[in-house]
Parts: sequence; structure tokens; C-alpha cells
Amino acid sequence: MKDAQQHDTDELRHHIYDGIQEYDKRMPNWWLFTLYGAMVFAVIYWAYYHWAAHMTPGYVRVEKQIEEFQKSALAGGAAPTDAQLWKMSRDPAVVESGQKIYMANCVACHGQNLEGGIGQNLTDTTWVHGGTPTDIYNTITKGVLDKGMPVWGPVLGAGRISDVVAFVISKNPTIQQPPEM
Ligand code: HEC
Repeated sequence: MKDAQQHDTDELRHHIYDGIQEYDKRMPNWWLFTLYGAMVFAVIYWAYYHWAAHMTPGYVRVEKQIEEFQKSALAGGAAPTDAQLWKMSRDPAVVESGQKIYMANCVACHGQNLEGGIGQNLTDTTWVHGGTPTDIYNTITKGVLDKGMPVWGPVLGAGRISDVVAFVISKNPTIQQPPEM
């Protein structure tokens, strides 16, 4: 009968399942403390890992390293110089490889003979983004997305972009041998 007395103040729930009636008992304190504790912990955890941890010097340093690594990976290591790209453009094997890359990726917009179309003519003297070998290399690597020129860096990598630049230079009689050679 002790149990029945203890429940005197508790309301009975209205439903009955399988002949069993339940009291609407208050949750025990240990249970409530666990619940509220988990809530408080979640807020602190969230605030710490989403905000505070990002400010710590170690975290900032790692972020910076990752960013630098991604940048260099995108560029595929050190970018070539004007002189290197020029030299490649005089090498028939490189030019042939560049031509294949051009035919596979660029011809649709720049034309069979680089005469232009959706993209610019690449055989004339007019360059919107600069006409030195490294300018062309950078334009192709970074693209001009808002004008419809795709970003090729992550797609082709430094090696193939260098080859295609060599091909473009070999087809453009107006690009002069760089003076530093
Ligand atoms: C989807 C169409 C498209 C493809 C594919 C494309 N381009 Fe372009 N390209 C463009 C457009 C559009 C521009 C003009 C951007 C502007 O006006 O700033 C451009 C600009 C350029 C320029 C700069 C020209 C200048 O005057 O400075 C170079 C160089 C170039 N493309 C090379 C390439 C090469 C190499 C490839 C293949 C790897 C390629 N493009 C593939 C559309 C394309």
C-alpha cells in the first residue's frame, strides 16, 4: 500500500493499454539533470568548436597551411616562366601534345584554327588578359568564369596547361621570344 500512497499526488494518465494504467509522474531529478546537462554541454561544445577553436593560433596555422597546399596543388607546383614556355613552344613533341589537349578541351569555343568563336581568337595581337606566355598560362589556369572561360587549373594541371600554352604560342606569330633568353 506504500506505493499507492506515494502516488496520491500524481495524476493518472487517461489512456489504458492492455489493462495497464500509468501515473503521470514527474521525471526523477537525476534524469532531468542529465537532460539539462546535455543541453548546456551542447551549447558550450558548439560555441567552442564553431567559434573559439577557430581563433586559436594552432588552428589558424593549420588552416593557412592547408590553403597554401591547395594553392600549390592547384598550380601543380611552381608555375613555368615565359622563357620555359617559349622554349616548349619550339619543341615539336610538346606542341603536338598541346594540340591534342587543345582539340579535346578548347576547340569547341576557340575554333579549329584558334580563330575564335565563343571564346577569343588566339592568333591575333589582341589579348584581353595579357599576351605574354605566363599571362596566357594564368588565364587558362584561373579561367574567366563570368565571361564563360572555364577554370582549367584543377582539370588539366600545370603540365598539360604548359603544353597547351606552348601550342597556342606556336600558332601565334605575334608572340615574340621573351627578352630574358
Ligand atoms: C566554354 C567555352 C570555352 C572553352 C571550352 C575554352 N575557352 Fe578560353 N575563353 C572562352 C571565353 C568566353 C573567353 C573570353 C574571356 C573574356 O572575355 O574575358 C576565353 C578566353 C581565353 C583566353 C584569353 C584570351 C585573351 O584575349 O586574353 C585564352 C588564352 C583561352 N581562352 C584559352 C583557352 C584554352 C587553352 C582552352 C582549353 C584548355 C580554352 N580556352 C577553353 C571560352 C572558352
